[in-house]
Amino acid sequence: MVERVAVYPGSFDPITNGHLDILQRGLRLFDKIIIAVARNAEKRPLFTVEERLEMIREVVQGLENVIVDSFDGLLVDYVRSVAAMFIIRGLRAMSDFEYEFQMASVNRTLNGQVDTIFMMTSKDYFFVSSRTIKEVAELGGCVEKFVPPSVERRLREKFGR
Ligand code: PNS
Repeated sequence: MVERVAVYPGSFDPITNGHLDILQRGLRLFDKIIIAVARNAEKRPLFTVEERLEMIREVVQGLENVIVDSFDGLLVDYVRSVAAMFIIRGLRAMSDFEYEFQMASVNRTLNGQVDTIFMMTSKDYFFVSSRTIKEVAELGGCVEKFVPPSVERRLREKFGR
């Protein structure tokens, strides 16, 4: 039987409980999920790619069938290089839709073999984004409901708290 492999790409600066929710639910659909951190996505990231990979590896350890990697260049080229056929993206509110629709359409035009599968974020994480979490953490707010404990610790360290 053909293995169903999906790539879950993103900036993951940092990984949040919303991302983990999508990952866990995605594992019911796919045999293997490759979390792929884009090296050129965020212009001014808080965490280096290596720090992000380390944080992701910490929180997914114990989850079978998950691989953590990074990529440069076009996502569809990376997807092809790992012999995957699917891209997973989480959809939060309507505001995500236009950007995601555009990205999925471009990717599909570049490679008609690859489909983007959208998963609706669980209601608890509808409003969670890496950007807002960074802002809350920077201003001294508590982010323990939004990120795993190890990520919360890293955020505190980053902001010298
Ligand atoms: O978590 P993000 O920042 O919303 O993820 C965006 C990401 C990394 C998936 C997107 O920027 C991307 O795929 N970058 C790689 C470059 C690429 O393939 N661009 C063409 C598709 S628009």
